[in-house]
Amino acid sequence: MTEEQLIKSKKRVQQHGEVFTPKKIVNLMLDQAELQENLHDLSSTFLEPSAGEGAFLTEILHRKLKVARQVSRSREEYDENTLIALSSLYGIELLEDNVELLVMNMIIMFSNEYTQVVMADFKAKVDDVMMRRVIDSAKTIIRANMVQGNALTRLNDRGEPLIFSEWQILPVKRGVRKVQRILYTFDAIIDQDEAEATVQANRPAYEEIDLFSDLFENGEAEPSKTETPLVRYVPVKLTEVYKELIEAIN
Ligand SMILES: C[S@@+](CC[C@H](N)C(=O)[O-])C[C@H]1O[C@@H](n2cnc3c(N)ncnc32)[C@H](O)[C@@H]1O
Repeated sequence: MTEEQLIKSKKRVQQHGEVFTPKKIVNLMLDQAELQENLHDLSSTFLEPSAGEGAFLTEILHRKLKVARQVSRSREEYDENTLIALSSLYGIELLEDNVELLVMNMIIMFSNEYTQVVMADFKAKVDDVMMRRVIDSAKTIIRANMVQGNALTRLNDRGEPLIFSEWQILPVKRGVRKVQRILYTFDAIIDQDEAEATVQANRPAYEEIDLFSDLFENGEAEPSKTETPLVRYVPVKLTEVYKELIEAIN
């Protein structure tokens, strides 16, 4: 969708309030001073409950990838930091065709920016194996975090509860940083702390919401007893997320 094409049809505007935000406005909104701390924190979570084609999420990703480049001192750090930044971004969108474009736009934003930097800063070649792994892992994260559904009923088109992945970064062990993916229903996340995680109609679409903060007590690595994860994946390096190895299903 170009800046000029802000609506697809009158019917869609009437039925779903589908009017896309022009890039200029997105930038003005994301330039607000109170957002800068979160935008500069790679793991600060953003959830957009009516994500459209990703006007806000792609720009937030663009800004976080810039930060990843600034703070990374090696290729390995850069690979990991880009994936940490990406895993902090979540979207819900009602219309399937918009979800497809949302996923595609996020993949394009990530792949283009990541490829450009690893080639320029780290002299990676087109057939670089790690580059392929990072992009495959990025695609897995994007497909998991961009969810088709109704943010109000918390159900998807098939009437199933919305499911989100937490990407929990584990403490570095023997120099290796791993991530564990854990699936929860959106209901469970919201019910755990209505005040902090509710998608409120009066919140601006870009507002930072710490989706998973209260699922864990005192920052412990184990979920509290009231929250049973649906699925746990095997802890893996961030660049191996694409393997999607399941550890346990409840
Ligand atoms: C005003 S548009 C904004 C899209 C995007 N945030 C932007 O700024 O370009 C609203 C979007 O929310 C979606 N939407 C409407 N009701 C929704 C709901 N209950 N849950 C999730 N998405 C919804 C529409 O399909 C549309 O893409």
